Amino acid sequence: MELPFAESFRIKMVEPIRRTTRAEREQFIREAKFNLFNLKSANVFIDLLTDSGTGAMSDRQWSEMMLGDESYAGASSFFKFRDAIRDIMGFEYVLPCHQGRAAENVLFSVLVKEGHLVPGNSHFDTTKGHIEFRKAKAVDCTIDEAFDTTLAHPFKGNIDLVKLEKVLAENGDRVPFIIFTITCNSSGGQPVSLANMKAVRQLADKYGKKIVMDSARFAENAYFIKVREDGCQNKSIREIVKEMFSYADAITMSAKKDAIVNIGGFIAMRDKDLFDKASVFEIIYEGYITYGGLAGRDLNAIARGLYEATEFDYLETRVRQVEYLGNKLMAMGIPIQQPVGGHAIFVDAKRFLPNVRKEEFVAQTLAVHLYVEAGVRGVEIGAILADRDPVTRENRYPELELMRLAIPRRVYTNNHMDVVAAGLKNIWDRRSTIKTGFKIVREAPIMRHFTVELEKI
Ligand code: F0G
Repeated sequence: MELPFAESFRIKMVEPIRRTTRAEREQFIREAKFNLFNLKSANVFIDLLTDSGTGAMSDRQWSEMMLGDESYAGASSFFKFRDAIRDIMGFEYVLPCHQGRAAENVLFSVLVKEGHLVPGNSHFDTTKGHIEFRKAKAVDCTIDEAFDTTLAHPFKGNIDLVKLEKVLAENGDRVPFIIFTITCNSSGGQPVSLANMKAVRQLADKYGKKIVMDSARFAENAYFIKVREDGCQNKSIREIVKEMFSYADAITMSAKKDAIVNIGGFIAMRDKDLFDKASVFEIIYEGYITYGGLAGRDLNAIARGLYEATEFDYLETRVRQVEYLGNKLMAMGIPIQQPVGGHAIFVDAKRFLPNVRKEEFVAQTLAVHLYVEAGVRGVEIGAILADRDPVTRENRYPELELMRLAIPRRVYTNNHMDVVAAGLKNIWDRRSTIKTGFKIVREAPIMRHFTVELEKI
């Protein structure tokens, strides 16, 4: 008999979580004004709100925490952190930051100016936010295949070379750099291929542009390259990571994802001049250049986490759990973004609840039903998140209404995934009876999804 697959870790510390009753959950979600961000985490049984900062550190990472050097400047923890990034990612210059968006803030303070265009593959919200805040524009050059959830393209994070070249040819003087998000969160945790990175590098060189990689989930991207891209099966994850980053001039990193820590981030780059300029903003916004808003112990845990996250066995366990949930849902006929991404399942809410009008927030409706059904917290990636048009103040309705179920690293077992799947199946079976959603009763002028208050229609 073939031995089944099993996790490449065992558990030596546990955190109790509490089941609630349906009646309790109905009350909690009503008190939360039907906004899942307003729930107390103690009232959530399985929390799939995000995979960011929610992972379980290893025993080695916790022991590194004890070895933190908390000196203000020149701490040994900084050198351990810098050397890990040099070794794994191949960049000479490194600035620690308190999280990913802080890295964006520091780097873009140097590179992005009013009127600029920043082409990329479905920029993450904070990336787009930091570009638009500087009165520049994020131009989405993602391949069209990414927007069809039924299409099983292996690299839906890829940049469309024709779309990119059009921007560079027509407005090259306004482009400070091209940004790759690896994996691409907004399109479903979808990877970018090495071939696409190489081709974009050639275009960037032709037009004399830098490439920045938003590397929050770089290791998951490398895993997909290894298992999906022709000619990469025999390369190690670390070899693939080195090659990926050989195409970049600089990276921003949210260490809360693929460095498996609860807080932290950094910028890494090759160019001393860029490092000197960024160091000025680093000191204003983050802290001295050898700690950047983090404790020495955090830097140690990141260094260790980067090594762990680039081990094949860890990544296989990680991605196969996401696939496990995805395969279960697909077998039930539940519509999800295919193929399954690296960190989350994206349920296609319009196809799940065809009777709910888009004006009544389809993905939010599904997320509320899932919480009441099973105590599972997902997150809406749809019209509430898309916000109002800044000029007309009309609601924007994106092409896709998605409910994201993000899986924290090394936290839940496949039994938890079974609960998620069963909860969704129960809703799926009664989907024809769900005909109404929600209306907004209170909202903030921007980033409304965090605090929005809703009422049942
Ligand atoms: N880039 C990507 C691709 C991200 O997914 C995130 C965060 C950031 C940058 C910003 O990093 O949170 O450390 O400041 N994503 C989280 C999520 C919030 O839930 O997907 P941060």
